[in-house]
Amino acid sequence: MKNKSLVSIDDLSTDEMVSILDLAEKFEKEPSQRLLEDSVIATLFFEPSTRTRLSFESAISRLGGKIIGFTDASSSSVTKGESLNDTIRTVNNYCDLIVMRHPVEGSARLASEIADVPVVNAGDGANQHPTQTMLDLYSIRKTQKSLDNLNIFLVGDLKYGRTVHSLLMAMSRWNTTFNFISPDELKMPVEYKLYLDSLGLKYYEHSDFTDIIKEADVIYMTRVQKERFSDPIEYEKVKNVYVLRNHMLRDTKENLKVLHPLPRVNEIHRDVDVNTKSYYFQQALNGVYTRQAILTRLLDLK
Ligand code: CP
Repeated sequence: MKNKSLVSIDDLSTDEMVSILDLAEKFEKEPSQRLLEDSVIATLFFEPSTRTRLSFESAISRLGGKIIGFTDASSSSVTKGESLNDTIRTVNNYCDLIVMRHPVEGSARLASEIADVPVVNAGDGANQHPTQTMLDLYSIRKTQKSLDNLNIFLVGDLKYGRTVHSLLMAMSRWNTTFNFISPDELKMPVEYKLYLDSLGLKYYEHSDFTDIIKEADVIYMTRVQKERFSDPIEYEKVKNVYVLRNHMLRDTKENLKVLHPLPRVNEIHRDVDVNTKSYYFQQALNGVYTRQAILTRLLDLK
């Protein structure tokens, strides 16, 4: 996979995904290895992040690599009017791999076409978040013991939530049944439904999930993406449509796990945190191991 970028989850074959998950398992057993001692990784965050940036930086640090970059575009020459093209052409000279988050859809693909080094998409607008998906797959495989034939509920902002777009594309490789639960305004975009249609996979759309929650193997809650709304009144209308409470998990499947890419706002009540079916904080931890696997694979070090 040398010099290959990871922009969309579809950049990875199913074999490559499984191989990265297997490698991540090895990093979970032994996270501190000096594989990146000779590597410099640039982390360019044009949008806020806690988990993605810090788990990448933790992964790089535990592998002995060096980190350059910025956490806020306002501290870069973008504020002077520098284009993304020129920023990437410059940073490309200083590092062996670029991790980039940017608000504009397609920006990571553009960066990958400009850079000579691999580019990892850490989220581009409402489009894709492939490394989140790899940690989601890792979390699902670890807790369900398999990725095959699961019933996955995607709940909340299915329109702007990039994590659900990438996850849908990835899980479609394993004969998943999807239940989409969203308000009308935030439905799964038609292109993703057509994608599932083309593969002959089943999906169902609902505005509520209390009556069907017993069927779920995985409930993947999402935050309503306030930053993507142009009209704050529209956000106010939908922001608290779904709130998962602990009592709702009574009589659900034994194997059920509640996932969330985080950050959460109100969509999972804190009373769920004590339930053994909640898994979102362990999910965030799994980001370190999967990102160690992604980095070393893209740099052809493992
Ligand atoms: N899951 C995720 O992308 O979180 P951050 O925005 O904190 O990076």
